[in-house]
Amino acid sequence: MGRRRKTKRIAQDVSISGIADKGQAVGRDAEGMVYFVAGAVPGDVVDVWVKKKKSSFRQGVVETFKSLSSERVEAFCEHFGNCGGCKWQYLNYQSQLKYKEEAIVDAFERLGHLEIKEKRPIMGCEQTKQYRNKMEYSFSSRRWVPQEELDAGGEVNFGPATGFHKAGAFNMVVQIEKCHLQDDLSNKIRNFVHQQALDQEWTFHNPREHTGFLRNLMIRNTTLGEWMVVMIFGEGDEEQITTFMELMTTEFPDLTSVYYVINTKHNDSTSDLPFHHYKGALTITEQLGHINYKIGPKSFFQTNTYQAKRLYDEVVNVAGLTGDELVYDLYTGLGSIALYVADKCKRVVGIEEIAPAIEDAMVNMELNGITNANFEVGDCKDVFNEAFVKNHGAPDLVIVDPPRVGLHKDVVKVLAGTGVDKIVYVSCNPSTQARDIALLSEQYTVELIQPVDMFPHTHHVENIAVLKKR
Ligand SMILES: C[S@@+](CC[C@H](N)C(=O)[O-])C[C@H]1O[C@@H](n2cnc3c(N)ncnc32)[C@H](O)[C@@H]1O
Repeated sequence: MGRRRKTKRIAQDVSISGIADKGQAVGRDAEGMVYFVAGAVPGDVVDVWVKKKKSSFRQGVVETFKSLSSERVEAFCEHFGNCGGCKWQYLNYQSQLKYKEEAIVDAFERLGHLEIKEKRPIMGCEQTKQYRNKMEYSFSSRRWVPQEELDAGGEVNFGPATGFHKAGAFNMVVQIEKCHLQDDLSNKIRNFVHQQALDQEWTFHNPREHTGFLRNLMIRNTTLGEWMVVMIFGEGDEEQITTFMELMTTEFPDLTSVYYVINTKHNDSTSDLPFHHYKGALTITEQLGHINYKIGPKSFFQTNTYQAKRLYDEVVNVAGLTGDELVYDLYTGLGSIALYVADKCKRVVGIEEIAPAIEDAMVNMELNGITNANFEVGDCKDVFNEAFVKNHGAPDLVIVDPPRVGLHKDVVKVLAGTGVDKIVYVSCNPSTQARDIALLSEQYTVELIQPVDMFPHTHHVENIAVLKKR
């Protein structure tokens, strides 16, 4: 059984000239038609297998390279092309940084019609591999089989896989032997679990039939050498779970903290499910500069630890606090930025919707001897309102660090209503950041932007924007 190939429509000699939205390479053919091309980088000339045809553009993948860009490098990962992660690894790192800077400026200037007073150069990573402190793997009863393997004509194993979802194929997983994003222990744990599953004949998740014992595996580590493993089961067979957990913790006795979750829902989200503590500590500990953080399994923590410290140092730098200020930190997670700036202001108040993250924030406050922070739990659009501002006082600085969707429009409205002099907007999505800042642009100017690369080999980028009241 194989996938049927469609008849190919090939466009000749497309010159790739830039990077567009979501990191896609963009170029034109001799007639000036625009192409978005997966697998190309600026400087390449390619023939394109056109998969989507619209009146104003075409979308496709590289069919043949006619000439190669000088910005290209060899991809380092054996799974490149099949795995959906690290899509930019064939672009040299300096070029990656350049295109990330350009993407932010494009989002602000072209889409947001914003004037940026100062564009600071992007802060690149020193370590571009093993930079992540958290990985989430999936189990699937059906392995993604590359087209070349199907074309080779031999017997194809569609059997179970442990790794990453193939982009656009929610029921299939690319089998991963080695991922370069986290310390190699992560590979050892994942590969051990996969092999045990085969040996013990445990079943893998099948999202179509909604069956299977093994569903997801989350592995977190810290620069202090601590490791947390959370195993997510799709079925609640307690005896089988105990056998699994015993095998894993016997093989890896030094894991700092071990949990499991039973998720029988139709989606992978676990934030609404109980996390069963199996072994070791309840949290793992990370240190960023002067602050120690205890991180629980449900709390967000920046995934690139080294760059998170640089990001927070830059937030401190641009905040220019004197010690007298009241600071709000919206979308505070486990109080990460709030606690980092606490010794530089009079008082800081954080808001976060995940209650266990705020429990971690309270523990972290005590751990670091901080007494001038308060935290509230809830959705910012509900908690951050006029009553909140009346209760805590008018802020001198507001820091916001929302998820990729950006700020809710009610949050933008309240933010503008505070009349705060300075806003530090930290974002992992320049498009929504520019959109939100555009809504504030009658009252605020963009003083500066400071991009920070937290995600080498992907098109993702973090950006700090400093807004000043007009
Ligand atoms: C990008 S993280 C930033 C966390 C923190 N500033 C840090 O640096 O670790 C965004 C945080 O916002 C929280 N969050 C997402 N949507 C929210 C909402 N509507 N209201 C409050 N918090 C929310 C998430 O749980 C997450 O902790």
